[in-house]
Amino acid sequence: MNDLYAVISALLASWFLWRWLGQTHLGHIPTIGTSVPVLSYIQSLQFFKRAGEFIQEGYNKHAYNGGVFKVAMPDQWLVVIAGPTMIEEMRRLPEDIASLLGGGDQSLATRHVVGTRVAEDPDRMAFVRARVGRNIPENFNMLQEELTTALSSVIGFPDGSLFPSRDQQLLSVFTQFARDYTISRRLIIMFPNILKPIVSRVFNRTHGSVRAAYTLLAPAIRERRQKAEECLKTGRVWHDKPNDMLMWAIERAVQEGRPDESVVPSLLFAEYSTVRVEAMNFTQALFRLSANPQYIASLREEVEEALAANNGRWNKTVVTMLSKMDSFLKESFRLSGVTHTSMWRQTQKPVTFSNGTTIPSGVFVAAAAAATHIDGNLYPNPHTFDPWRFVGCVGQNSLATTRPDFLPFGHGRHACPGRHFATYQMKLLLAYIVTKYDLAMDPRLEGKLPQSITFGTFIFPNPSVRVMMRRRVHYWTSRRWE
Ligand SMILES: *[C@@H]1O[C@H](CO)[C@@H](O)[C@H](O)[C@H]1NC(C)=O
Ligand SMILES: *[C@@H]1O[C@H](CO)[C@@H](O)[C@H](O)[C@H]1NC(C)=O
Ligand SMILES: *[C@@H]1O[C@H](CO)[C@@H](O)[C@H](O)[C@H]1NC(C)=O
Ligand SMILES: *[C@@H]1O[C@H](CO)[C@@H](O)[C@H](O)[C@H]1NC(C)=O
Repeated sequence: MNDLYAVISALLASWFLWRWLGQTHLGHIPTIGTSVPVLSYIQSLQFFKRAGEFIQEGYNKHAYNGGVFKVAMPDQWLVVIAGPTMIEEMRRLPEDIASLLGGGDQSLATRHVVGTRVAEDPDRMAFVRARVGRNIPENFNMLQEELTTALSSVIGFPDGSLFPSRDQQLLSVFTQFARDYTISRRLIIMFPNILKPIVSRVFNRTHGSVRAAYTLLAPAIRERRQKAEECLKTGRVWHDKPNDMLMWAIERAVQEGRPDESVVPSLLFAEYSTVRVEAMNFTQALFRLSANPQYIASLREEVEEALAANNGRWNKTVVTMLSKMDSFLKESFRLSGVTHTSMWRQTQKPVTFSNGTTIPSGVFVAAAAAATHIDGNLYPNPHTFDPWRFVGCVGQNSLATTRPDFLPFGHGRHACPGRHFATYQMKLLLAYIVTKYDLAMDPRLEGKLPQSITFGTFIFPNPSVRVMMRRRVHYWTSRRWE
């Protein structure tokens, strides 16, 4: 009941705010739909269902004519940048003008769900860049071990990159947190920014999962922290110090003199914003492959050839040889991305683009990603799924290369720093799956690709769909995967 009252009063408040503040400072940017204050608020409620449609319409009209438009969301205007020229310009804007942290915060409502400290942590990306980006050889064995275990018990996604754990209880707490986060965010973004700090108290659903995670992690945190503090005091070197996200979060807490509990939200949020998204991207690709099993043989052959050329030994070299795999995944990301927008930024100062358009300070800006990926000027036959479209392009046009025409990882200085690790992990996982399993799509779908579920700019793989996987008997008896 409490929630209902809150929703009603907030909707009214939003309505008034929209009427007063509506768009005074964004009047010069073309609007998709109406910009009449009251009507645009009503229309903004459709954003949750029809964001993709609105952004596509804006792209068609403006990508090659001005390169910018705006769409009403219930809490604020989203200013969308479209077309390669404008996207290149946006890429070059530094953090103090167009802030990535601010954009992520706007998009995920981070500060209103897990708090300001996590939202404003500039070191999170630095950590990923420094430790995950470079660490592929070091992580290879850990990754492979995680893969084997995860796949042979349940066919799930190995949650192993940031904090390797097979503790079922902990894994389910992470999942619960992701659910709680999503629900909180969905409620909070119904409200204008001014009201968010108040409503987030009512709608913060993460207390339970954060507490549960702390209960499970507390002993490990305490033990590691003690050791870290000891080493800090005595100047001793901790030789076998774990190299993972948990350890990093603990070290930060030690440096900043924060209590043990403060480690948990950072860890949960990091998992939510990286591993989950990666799993969703991968699921879309797995759906593609299961719906089109005719591509499996080529992928399998490529893996086996690469392995043979490498004396049957799995290491980084094998994975970098998989150009068909790279192309298949890239084509899947192109047509089945997990968001309609990317390069989320919040302007910190007014920005004037070369064609004279100025975006004022404090505005949520994003690039049209999904629409770019089906632009016929950038991709011939853009709606056709051509798995080998990018074969032979490794280097300039591979999965992990960001370009103004391929935006799943953002673009420019702020592109996802974990993308090399993530794409590597996905190739390894898919290589593992195609060599060890046969795949088929849920028979209810009769070979069709499942409909994704969209909420605002996010696209989720359909959770009710099952992919069928069967062990390849010959493979398992010949034991070629060492
Ligand atoms: C600049 O933007 C305006 C509309 O905002 C558009 O009419 C014009 O074509 C754009 N110029 C260039 C060079 O893109
Ligand atoms: C929401 O609850 C969690 C867990 O209790 C807490 O860590 C977080 O700071 C809260 N969020 C806000 C915005 O207060
Ligand atoms: C998955 O896709 C989203 C959006 O397309 C992107 O932001 C993210 O970096 C991708 N993550 C991984 C690990 O592939
Ligand atoms: C992988 O193994 C092969 C064959 O043993 C070797 O030639 C290659 O240098 C290794 N690559 C890496 C990155 O260790």
